[in-house]
Amino acid sequence: MASQPLHPLIAPSILSADFARLGEEVAAVARDGETRADWVHVDVMDNHFVPNLTLGLPVVESLRKVSEVPLDCHLMIEDPDRWAPGYAEAGAYNVTVHAEAAREPVMLAKNLRAAGAKAGLSIKPGTPLEPHLDTLKHYDTLLVMSVEPGFGGQSFIPDVLEKVRTARRLVDTGHLTLVVEIDGGINASTIEQAAEAGVDCFVAGSAVYGAEDPGRAVAALRDQAACARSAH
Ligand code: DX5
Ligand code: ZN
Repeated sequence: MASQPLHPLIAPSILSADFARLGEEVAAVARDGETRADWVHVDVMDNHFVPNLTLGLPVVESLRKVSEVPLDCHLMIEDPDRWAPGYAEAGAYNVTVHAEAAREPVMLAKNLRAAGAKAGLSIKPGTPLEPHLDTLKHYDTLLVMSVEPGFGGQSFIPDVLEKVRTARRLVDTGHLTLVVEIDGGINASTIEQAAEAGVDCFVAGSAVYGAEDPGRAVAALRDQAACARSAH
């Protein structure tokens, strides 16, 4: 019995948007109808956990005020135990921390939920899933990275789909209750294999914000994922 949502979730990553016009870029994927994104993915990088620096809490607080689409904050930062709950308090719908960085991930998940957010756990391409399965019982979202975190526009790493298949099986058999999300290199050429492997939510940066019409790109990716899943 599959437990995937009725339609695949698409989460455009504003890492590939124009940072000088963030409000408009979010609005471009928030129009009612099939071109509307399910979540807006916000990549927070601290230049320590990853070799890149993006945006932080003040920007998320401002986006929260203008975004009609729930914010999916992906924290690529050190010491998420200390900093992540602030993003939940700022109104993020889902706050994802990295398993490689969290010191007490179970406690952290509880803190995120207590602050009103869903709790997400992310693993880098080289991080195995198995050691984190017990921890994942306390989480709402598993974010499988399909590129090394740090930059948009990289090539999809298909090997990570084995972790997606394992997570899908555990969710479908009732051992875990998670949204299975994938992040990195998702585009028209890669989304079908990810959908077949059992992904629920697809982050797409360059494939959405590199397109002439970001909303149309959202709708097209969702259609592709839905077709691949139903054909499987
Ligand atoms: C990478 C980020 C991704 C990035 C994806 O570290 O976590 O969310 O924006 O960008 P694309 O879709 O271009 O690979
Ligand atoms: Zn991300």
